[in-house]
Parts: sequence; C-alpha cells; structure tokens
Amino acid sequence: LLGPTENVVVLLDRVVQPARRNTSKHFRKLRSLLCSLTQVGGIYTVIQTKAKTTADEWGENYFLIGPYFEQNVKTQVEFSEPPNPAVKKAMDTMKSQGCQVFFGRWLIEGSPYVLLFDIGSAAWNLDKWKGEFWEVSNIGIPFHDQEANDAVIFGSLTAWFLKELSCQFDDKPNIIAHFHEWQAGVGLILSRSQKLPVATIFTTHATLLGRYLCAASIDFYNNLDQFDIDKEAGERQIYHRYCMERASVHCAHVFTTVSQITATEAEHMLKKSPDVVTPNGLNIKKFSAMHEFQNLHSMYKARIQEFIRGHFYGHLDFDLDKTLFFFIAGRYEFSNKGADMFLEALSRLNFLLRVHKTDVTVIVFFIMPAKTNNFNVETLKGQAVRKQLWDTAQSVKEKFGRKLYNSLLKGEIPDLNKILDRDDISIMKRAIYTTQRHTLPPVTTHNMIDDSNDPILNTIRRIGLFNNRTDRVKVILHPEFLSSTSPLLPLDYEEFVRGCHLGVFPSYYEPWGYTPAECTVMGIPSVTTNLSGFGCFMQEHVADPAAYGIYIVDRRFRSPDESCNQLTQFLYGFCQQNRRQRIIQRNRTERLSDLLDWKYLGRYYMHARHLALSRTFPVKFEMEPSAPPKTEGFRYPRPSSVPPSPSASQHSSPHHSEAEDEDEDERYDEDEEAERDRQNIKSPFSIGALPQGKKKQHGEYRN
Ligand code: UDP
Ligand code: G6P
Ligand code: GLC
Repeated sequence: LLGPTENVVVLLDRVVQPARRNTSKHFRKLRSLLCSLTQVGGIYTVIQTKAKTTADEWGENYFLIGPYFEQNVKTQVEFSEPPNPAVKKAMDTMKSQGCQVFFGRWLIEGSPYVLLFDIGSAAWNLDKWKGEFWEVSNIGIPFHDQEANDAVIFGSLTAWFLKELSCQFDDKPNIIAHFHEWQAGVGLILSRSQKLPVATIFTTHATLLGRYLCAASIDFYNNLDQFDIDKEAGERQIYHRYCMERASVHCAHVFTTVSQITATEAEHMLKKSPDVVTPNGLNIKKFSAMHEFQNLHSMYKARIQEFIRGHFYGHLDFDLDKTLFFFIAGRYEFSNKGADMFLEALSRLNFLLRVHKTDVTVIVFFIMPAKTNNFNVETLKGQAVRKQLWDTAQSVKEKFGRKLYNSLLKGEIPDLNKILDRDDISIMKRAIYTTQRHTLPPVTTHNMIDDSNDPILNTIRRIGLFNNRTDRVKVILHPEFLSSTSPLLPLDYEEFVRGCHLGVFPSYYEPWGYTPAECTVMGIPSVTTNLSGFGCFMQEHVADPAAYGIYIVDRRFRSPDESCNQLTQFLYGFCQQNRRQRIIQRNRTERLSDLLDWKYLGRYYMHARHLALSRTFPVKFEMEPSAPPKTEGFRYPRPSSVPPSPSASQHSSPHHSEAEDEDEDERYDEDEEAERDRQNIKSPFSIGALPQGKKKQHGEYRN
C-alpha cells in the first residue's frame, strides 16, 4: 500500500491511549489475505509489521501518511472520518484547494489510521513546488525522473498538511513526523525550511550510492572512505536523488538506519552517523502448542511436493522423502542479493552430492520477480499431467473399492487379478503415456520477457544446471512473488517458507534482510552473511549461530571464491543431516524468535522518538539518559547439547546418539534441551524495561 514512499506521523496530542479494536476472526483472515496479495519488499514489511506496536503505544494519535493508489486502497482501507478535529480541519483546508485526501483505517494488525494523498490530483502544482524546493535546497529535479517528481509532489503535500495541522494549536503542538527513505524526504526538508514546530526523524533503509556501487561489483566495504561520492552519484545519473537523501539526513532532528553496517556506510556515503540504529522486527505469532510450527512445516512441505510431482513429471526418479527444498527470495538484485554466489555454490554442491553418491536431492527455488508474460506452457502442462494422474488413480480406486465391497458383502475375497478389467488397465496405461516428455523439466515457470539477458538464466546456462536426471541439484526460477491464488503453486510466501528446509540469502548488499529473519521466526534455518544487517545482529547476540540454524557466510574478510566454498560447505553439511537432526535444528532456530520481536526491538524506535522530542522541544521534553537502550551483555548461549569443541561438531549441527534412527519422529526429544536452555537464556525482554511496563503474559511467547 504505502511502499517505500510512506512516512509516519505520530501525533502526541494530550491523551495517549493504546488503540484497542475488536476484530472478528473472519476480518483478520481477510486482512491477511489482502496483505499477502500486495507485499512489495522489506520496507513494506517494516511499516506493516511495526504498525501494531506503534498503535499500541500511540493509539488514536498514530497516523501513517502515504500516496493514494486506488487499487490498493479499495482492498485494504476502510474509509472513515478522522476523529481528531485538528486532522479533519487540516484535511478540509487541503481539499478546499482542490487536493484529494483520503482517511481511514488500514486493515492490517493494529488497524492504524492512514491519510492518503492523491498525487495526481495535485500534479498541476509540480512546477511551482519544484521551484519552491529549489529555492530552499538548490536541488533541481530533471523532468524525466517521474519518481523524483512524484516525491516532490508528495513531500510538498506532506509539509502542507503538517503546517495546517500545527497551526491549529495555541501552544506548540507535540508532533513527531517520521520519514522513511529519500522518496519521503522532501516533506522533511520543507518542514524544516518552513520552521514547522514538528520533531522530525529520518530513517534510511539503505543508501542510494551503496546499493548502486555494490550492484556494479565494486569492492565496496574495503573502499568506503575512498569514493568521490558526488562524482559517483553524477556518473550514475542519480545526483538529484542522492542530494534529496543527503539533505533529508542532515535536516532531520534524528537520523536512524536499520543496522550497524548501514550506519558505517551512511557515515561515508551520506557524511553523517546515525543517531540511533533501529533494527527491524517482526510480529511474532504465538502458537499455543509447542510443536505447531513443525506440523506446519510438514503440511506445507506436502504442498510443495505436490507441485514438484507435476513439475518433474516423467523425471520423478528421485525420492521425494529424501528431497530438500532450498530457496532464495527477494527483489531481483542479482549480485546484491547473492544469487550469483548461490548459483556457483549450487554447481559445486551438485558435484559433491554426485561424487559422494548421496541419495539426497536438492530442489532450489529462486523467487525473484522479473518481467514475464505469464506461466510457460510446459510448467502448466506438468500440473495438468499430475492432476490427470491423480484423477485416474481416484476413478480406478473408486471402481476397485466398489468391486471389493460387493465381494466382501458376498463373503468372498475377490480375485485380485480380475478386479481390474482391460479398460481400467488401458486408462492407466494412457495416463502413464502422458508422463512421457522429450524435454527436461523447465528451469523457469514463466515466459521471461528478456530470457536471453536474464542473469539467473544465463548463469544456469553457463554452469549447466538444467534439471538433468543425473543432477542432484535441481533449480526452479519462479520470477514472481508467491500468492495463494496462483494456479501453479497456490501458497502464500509464509506458507512456502514454512514448507522449505533452508532459506539461502548470501547477500553482498543487505542493510537488514528480512528474508532470513522471517525464516528464523518460522523455525526454518537460513544462510545469511556478515555483510547483512541481520547476519551481524545475530553474530552479536547469539554465541553459536550455526547451532541455531543461522549460517553466516563470511563475505567480508574472504575472497569471493573462499566465501563460495564456505557456502558450499554449509549447504553440503546441511544435506548430510538426517531428519531427526533437522527437526532438532528447527526447534533451536525457532527459539531465537523473541530476539526479533517488535515488542523488544520497538524500543529503538521509541528511543528515536523521545530523542527527537527532546531535541525539538528541550524545555518540555527532557531526556535522561540520552544513550540508546543497551543490549550489551545479552547473548543466546550455545545450545547445551552442542559439544564445546568445534571439531566435535561439524558446523555445530545437532548431534544425537541415536541420530541414525531416521524414521522415528522424535520431535519431543529436544524438549529437555529446550528447557535447559530456557533456564540459561536470559530473555531479551529482561534487558531494560519493557515498553510501557508491559509484562510478558504466561504462555504468550513460545520460548
Ligand atoms: N516477500 C514477499 N513475497 C515473496 C517473497 C518475498 O512478500 O514471494 C517479502 C518478504 O516477506 C520480505 C521482503 O519481501 O519481507 C524482502 O525483504 P528484504 O528485507 O529481505 O529485502 P528487500 O527486498 O527489502 O531488499
Ligand atoms: C516436522 C513434522 C514431522 C516430520 C518432519 C519432517 O517436524 O512434525 O512429523 O517428520 O517435520 O522433517 P523434514 O526435515 O524431513 O522435512
Ligand atoms: C531495504 C534493504 C533491506 C532491508 C529493508 C527493510 O530494502 O535492502 O535489506 O531489510 O530495506 O529495512
């Protein structure tokens, strides 16, 4: 809905009460469906998941501001009148001057208020507003950059709204405006130049230059202080955007970013160190049953297996019970997201699995949106063939069952050789014939618009991973985000992740990286790197991340080839685990969830807001102490059953004396270890006071 151009306004207006709304089960379900249809990347996830804790803190005084997109609004916003008279008055003034402003509740967890500006309805002001922006900032926006032009309109509308709002209070109102990303930054710059009595925060989720330079395969981290940043921005034709970003950073009362690694990057690329690092959290769902997430894994894995039966029809000569599902997902930034290194590691893994004659097969999904024109015929045919085989089996089974039943009624055991007649055999033979194919199972599910230049497909061509029978590693590129309404793989992203065994995110440029964090809270192990905010955060807080199913590839102090070998070893080591070890590891992974809960991480945003208030209105808001909340000294210890010596534990993968006993489902074995660890692990919630003195409810969290 709001995408990367939204900003957040928190009104601190006298009464501050948490919002409480009764939502029916049906309503919640509908909301989650609507949300799953429109997710667009990490920044969206930040804003959407953070809404609940922020609404709990600020209640009716919390408003999100963003651009109006009819299609999204129709499905996600419940229109209403603003209950706050000051907001209503400000909106009315803008409407009376021809600008379309909408207000309502965003139908997500927390049901926050949203205020949406129709950029199109105000576009006739563009030249004037560009001129005014130039006057205050000397930043000129080229006419052909539509995104930047939209940012000027949106920013001017935001500043206008804040002005109308703030002038309605006799004394200085307590308004905090929190802006995310350069696209929202114009509103901040204008608010400051107009000296509006508003405390401003700017959060960047990446730097423009960092993203560009890394994508150009430059040795970024070893040369951070060497770049001529103005020149680099100019050469990439993003100078005006970079100026908007840099001006926002320097104008804000408080500047924040999502990780320490991006803080260092900002120091060099934006010439300012963030005041606060605000790591990204998630809303952790509470399961009443301890092992529910394991059952969900089983359930959704079965759905993925069903898809695989169709996709690999005629080539199903591998054991699905010994097949592992790996995936990488996110916006299609080939090298920044580490898809290049992942493919190379897969080629090496394929070799290792083949030479060691392992009976494990690995199927790897690449979920990265690219331009396509729909599913390809071969992929659709695969699912049709599978359906036909299923229908044939059902009809023969039914006939068989009826005959068997009739025989039993007569007190006879039927002649099993005659129970199926010639027609039945013919139907079955015909069904088997449909599984013949002369092509290999496709490596992509869609018709790619730019097939011959696609970096993933080109690498697959180069390394020759074509889904041959002999390959132990098979690949499937799904160049579209997942959706439960897809005719091909009808799963939403969360369901898909739960059904997989390992998420692999060997990013080179990743300020935070929600994808491995989401895996963690769902109890799915993942690979990340020490160049991602999430990877560094885990390294800081977990004594032996690999034991908990967080494999951190060193992309900082090793050559690309060495990093690729390390990744290959992680993947190969993972393939060597048996089922029981995987179950144990998933239990451990899931135990880290508390660490990623907004209920804990939200305190950094809180701190940023308090800091902004104390800097803007120092008389009214004194702040003691001004240092950000500390988590130092807090670390998840190595799980108690992992041997202390690294040599005794390969990648600290779970060991068990009867680990060979594959078929037995021993999920509960780990309860003892979990209990022991629980005694040792000091919950992150106990570090510093909980927001608003909230207490952990009995059974509210799983660990
Ligand atoms: N995602 C999604 N559907 C998909 C694949 C990914 O909604 O099919 C979401 C995922 O849940 C995550 C986001 O895309 O929240 C990617 O965020 P991340 O921070 O990893 O990377 P970004 O795209 O912001 O660089
Ligand atoms: C979960 C289920 C088990 C199942 C297991 C499969 O733990 O609760 O019943 O055996 O998943 O694990 P795997 O790693 O082989 O998919
Ligand atoms: C950006 C970053 C990503 C981060 C997200 C949310 O899109 O690329 O790493 O997780 O913002 O902060």
